[in-house]
Parts: sequence; structure tokens; C-alpha cells
Amino acid sequence: MQKHQYEVVVVGAGGAGLTAALYASHKASTAVISKLYPTRSHTGAAQGGIGAALGNTEEDHPEWHAFDTVKGSDYLGDQEAIDFMADEAVDAVYELEHMGLPFSRNPDGTIAQRPFGGHTNNETGKPVRRACYAADRTGHMILQTLFQQSIKNKVRFFDEFYVLDLLIVDGKTAGVIALELATGEMHIFHSKTVIIATGGHGRVWEITSNAYSYTGDGVALTLRRGIPAEDMEFFQFHPTGIYRMGILITEGVRGEGGVLINGEGERFMERYAPTVKDLASRDVISRAMYLEMKDGRGIDGKRYLHMDVTPEVVNHYADVDGRKNPDGSPYRVTASDILNKLPDIIDFCETYIGINPISDPMPVQPTAHYAMGGIPTNKFGEVVVDEKNTILPGLYAAGEVACVSVHGANRLGTNALLDLIIFGKYSGLKAAEYSASEPYLDLPKEPEAFAMQQLDSIRQSKGNERMIDIAAEMKQVMFDHVGVFRVEEGMQQAVDKVRELKERFKEITIDDKGLKFNNNLIEAWELSNLIDIAEVTAVSALARTESRGAHSRDDYSERDDKNWLKHTLAWMENGGVRLGYKPVQITKYKPKARAY
Ligand code: FUM
Repeated sequence: MQKHQYEVVVVGAGGAGLTAALYASHKASTAVISKLYPTRSHTGAAQGGIGAALGNTEEDHPEWHAFDTVKGSDYLGDQEAIDFMADEAVDAVYELEHMGLPFSRNPDGTIAQRPFGGHTNNETGKPVRRACYAADRTGHMILQTLFQQSIKNKVRFFDEFYVLDLLIVDGKTAGVIALELATGEMHIFHSKTVIIATGGHGRVWEITSNAYSYTGDGVALTLRRGIPAEDMEFFQFHPTGIYRMGILITEGVRGEGGVLINGEGERFMERYAPTVKDLASRDVISRAMYLEMKDGRGIDGKRYLHMDVTPEVVNHYADVDGRKNPDGSPYRVTASDILNKLPDIIDFCETYIGINPISDPMPVQPTAHYAMGGIPTNKFGEVVVDEKNTILPGLYAAGEVACVSVHGANRLGTNALLDLIIFGKYSGLKAAEYSASEPYLDLPKEPEAFAMQQLDSIRQSKGNERMIDIAAEMKQVMFDHVGVFRVEEGMQQAVDKVRELKERFKEITIDDKGLKFNNNLIEAWELSNLIDIAEVTAVSALARTESRGAHSRDDYSERDDKNWLKHTLAWMENGGVRLGYKPVQITKYKPKARAY
């Protein structure tokens, strides 16, 4: 058993973890523990941009960004936190630029910006260019930039270590227990603070844009330690994943003028969102796609549609929409524009499906993409554990694992990268500040006991259940019944199924019983995390008898502000899930019906 002592321990090395570590490391001894090598983190998969009202090519304001975010959240986002994020966004983007992030540029040298769903000019209602991008590799560039800066600032990295448990002593944070994957050795990280930045849990669903590593580790860890999860019923389906694979086709494709086409050759979004059309928010487009396919208008009657960014189609619809360049000339694209702005998309499509998007449309379907819910925090990343927002001292969460809540019931594209930079920064600053005034707490006698007990129950299990079957059944039932559209009967089926799988998980068998580089064991642990998260998600969703944002019910099709303008809190207790609720923080924007 090895022991380490750091004032700040960050779990996860994606954009949020690296930003937190960077800021904390200026004032406190800081370590980052990650199950992956940092630059393999899922932030690298974010493509289209980071939102900030720079106003480089047309008028824009942080207030417009804030209001779009509130509206996009279907009024479930906490407005003080949203204002804070939109205000901080502009400086955050320039700070990344100064760290060396190679943003794409306008001819005058300023950072280039493209339109994205739900981002509008608040006076005309038309799309506004707010997404700052580095071709279609924005997340990749953010990750590389932050990792280089962290190395420069001498942050200590523990790569390929898997955190199994969080240590809480007398209601305060005291560290984590981690398994070193290569050696199978246990490590105790004794710390004053812990920042959880482990990302999301899209691997609960069958079709997802999320990396294999997105197994909800942070939320599962805290649930087991009695901390609730907030708004877990809200999980976003991105409209454009490659058919059957789920790999993301960035919304930047539509920002550059691409359009969605159904099996009858119709640009169907004109019917569902006449003003913003293909740049409506993701929940609206995913539902429209689902309805088109359900009504037999998928391509060849199948369950996919076309995303068309061929120059002829883009230029045709640019004329139909009256889209103009910033200098007032008609908007036009050439094959080389598409190649320059969307190089990875072209590469992915050629590699995985043998299609060149410059000459052929891409087959797409909605793909599980982003968790709006997660570990409850305030706008400084401090974890809050009840209906009164009581802070758990020394514990922070940032990025997709956290629920601040700035995304409410539905996140706007580009606000994920922004969220992880802003709240990563403030959780790092706050953790360093707390560390300066608090002592290390004495650890319990056998701090690793709880983690070892859980690990051993998997290693020693002698049943006949196979992980692959349990995982497949969970993903299927969640995709079918807790996906884009939901009804009571289906969600109840999902709850029952997941509970059955939870029991069957106790009877799994793994072939490798050792501890050294045992992927089999880690995958089993990750599956147990996903099952817990699936249960909390399905139970939270079943209880919410309304439709709001990404939670869309056929049996309760209206938003119900009277009864449901509130956040869900879910605790894992006594082998089940207990629900509670807390108010949404409304400041200047009173809830209104959504207009498209
Ligand atoms: O479509 C995209 O590029 C995804 C961006 C996001 O989820 O914010």
C-alpha cells in the first residue's frame, strides 16, 4: 500500500480536471489521478466549438448568451450560475488563446466563430456566430493546450490509476483510494480536498457518441458515499451520430450550412422549427428525427436520416434562407471550405463508413451524448448534498460529472467546453483557498477497506452471469425506454430490468482474478457504476410527470411549471433510490413557453 499526500487531488484529466489542476497548482500541492493517459480523455472528442459572445463577426452579448442558455435549458437551469458562465466566457476564451490554443481565424486575425443550435441574436431570433472553434477539433486542441500548461506548471500526474473510493471523515473530505492499473497496488491519497472531474456516463445507452471510458465513475463513487445525484433524468441525445455507431458528427456541420434530409428528400426541420430550422436546439431536432423515422420517412424507410453538407445543397439552402457572409455577400461554400473546416468529419466518414461528405450525404441517427445531471454543486464547484444546498467541506466537482446547474433540462452545443473551463477554474481556485486554511484530517484505520471489499466481491464471485450480456441488456432497455421519447410503462420496464440486472451482477464471473493490469476487473467495476446510474436515471425519469428539455414523455407531453419547476435529487439508499427536490434558481428570466 503506497501513501501520498497532496493538498488538492483531482480525479480525472479531461478539460475540467486539467483546468482545475492548473489553477489549484498555483497555490497548493496538486495531483491529478486519471484512469487514462490525459490526452486520451473524452474532451478530445468535442468537435464544433466553445461558446463565447466575442462578437467577432456580428453583434453579440453575454446577456444574449445567458438568455439562450436559460431558454435552451427549458428554464430548469439556475440563472445566477448561467449569468456567471456567460459573463466569464469571453475572458476564458482569450485566456485559452493566450495559453497557445490554435483557434481557426477570420481573415482579420480574430478568432473565427460559427453558428450553433440555440445560439441566437436575441432581437431577430436568427442564429448568431458564437462558437469559437479550431476546425472540428476544438476539444482536442483544448485538451492538448491544458495538458502542456499543466506539465509546465509541474502538476503531478498519476496516469492509469483508477479511483475506487472517496474518503470522508467527520463529514469532511480526506482523500481517495486508487488502484494502480499496471501493478494492481492500492494507493491512499491523503488530501485536504478532492475535485471530481471524471466526465459523463453515456455508455449507459446502446448508441452513444461517448468514449468507452464514460462509465459514470464520479457519480457512482459519490452515490455510494451518500451524496445525491441531481437531475439525472435529463440526458441529451445529439441529433447526428453516425448510423449504428453513434460517432459524433458535429453540429458545426449544420453551422457551416449542412441540412438534415428525410427519405422523401425533404428538409424536414422547416416544419418543426421554422425560424432556426437545422439550428434548433438538440432536444427539438432529436425529437423531430425520431418522429420522421417513426412515420416511415427514414432513408429507405430505415431508422436513419441524411446529414447533407455537399456544397450544392449547402449553397441552395443558403439562398433559400437568405444566408449572408458578414460583408453582406451571399453565403457560399466550396469543397475546399468544407475540407478545411471539417477535416475530422470527412476523415471519420471515410474511415468508418466509406463515404466522402463532400460528395455524399452522411447517414445519421440521434446518439446519447451528454449528461445534464450529475453531482450537485454551486457555481464555485463546491459539492452540495441536500435540498438546502449544504456544502460538503473539501469536495468539488466540475465538468460533465457535475450539475451546477447551467444546462438544466437541455444543454446548448458549445456550452460543455465552456462549462468545464469555467467551473474547472473556480473549483481549482476554491480548493486551493480551502487547503490554505484547513489541516489534513486523520484517516480511519483501514481507509482502503470499503474499496477492497467491493473489489473482492467481484473477483471472488463464482456465478455464471456474463458481463457482456448484462451490459447489452442494460444498454438496450435504456435506449428503447429512457431515450428520446419516454412513457410510464417503458420506464417502469427499464427500472425493473435494471434492478434484475443489478441482482444478476452479483453472479458474474470474470476470467482474470488477479489485480495486475486486469481490464476484466475494471470493466466489471465500470459496469457496476453504469448499472447504478441507469437505475437512478430511470427512477428519476419515471417520477417526473411532465415533458421538459431532453425529458420528453408521450403520456405527459406538456411542460408543467406548477408542479415540476424543480431539480430532482436522488440518493441510493437501502438497496433502492430515494428522491427529493429543490427549487430552481430564477432571477431575471421568468419561464415562458418555448418558441421555435
Ligand atoms: O456537435 C458538436 O460539435 C458537439 C458539441 C457539444 O456537444 O457542445
